[in-house]
Amino acid sequence: MITTCDMFSRCVPDWAQWLGGKRFERGLEIGSYEGASACWLLSQGVVQSLTCVDLWDPRYQGHSGVELNFDTNVAEFGNRVAKRKGDSYKVLSSLIASGAPKFQFAYVDGDHSGASALRDMVLAWELLDLHGIMILDDVHAGGPHDPRTYVVHAFSGFQAAYGPYFTFEWGGREVPQVILRKLV
Ligand SMILES: C[S@@+](CC[C@H](N)C(=O)[O-])C[C@H]1O[C@@H](n2cnc3c(N)ncnc32)[C@H](O)[C@@H]1O
Repeated sequence: MITTCDMFSRCVPDWAQWLGGKRFERGLEIGSYEGASACWLLSQGVVQSLTCVDLWDPRYQGHSGVELNFDTNVAEFGNRVAKRKGDSYKVLSSLIASGAPKFQFAYVDGDHSGASALRDMVLAWELLDLHGIMILDDVHAGGPHDPRTYVVHAFSGFQAAYGPYFTFEWGGREVPQVILRKLV
C-alpha cells in the first residue's frame, strides 16, 4: 500500500470489530484519496465491488501523486473497483438519474465542509438499499477552529431530517464515526 498521508489506519480497530465477517455485494465510497479504506474493504471481502468517487484534484490534495497512488493501490482488485472521478455531487446525481443499482454499503468521507458533507450524506442515502449500511466520518470530531466541526453540523441536520428512518449500529470508539442502517 503506497501512501503519503495515512488517514485510515486509525479506523481499522473499529472497522475490524464491526465489519469483520460482514459481506455486502455493492459498496460506494465518497472520498477515496489513495485508496486505503477502499483496499481494506476489498481485501477483507467486506464489499464484493466498490464504486470509488473522488475529485483526485492536486489543488486540494497537496500533490499530484494521489491519483496515481490510488490507481496503483487498487490495481490488484481489477474490475471489482469502479473509479468515478469528479465532484461527488455530480457523480452521485448522475448515478441516481441513470437508475443505477443501489448499494448495500456506503462510506462518506469526502469534502468536510458543512454543505458538501450534508449533500453527500443525502445523495448516498438515496443510493442506499433498504437495510443498507452507511458509515459517516468525523461526525463527532472537531472544536471551535477545527474544520471537521462542519461535519458535526451537517450530521445534526441529517439526523433531524432522516433520524426516523435509520438506526445506529455503531458509534465509533477509536474514531469519531457512526454506522447507520437504513430502515425505510
Ligand atoms: C479524508 S480524504 C479520504 C480518505 C480515504 N477514505 C482514506 O481512508 O484514505 C477525503 C477525500 O475527499 C475528496 N473530496 C473532497 N471534496 C470532494 C468532492 N466534492 N467530490 C469528490 N471527492 C471529494 C478529496 O479529494 C480527498 O481525497
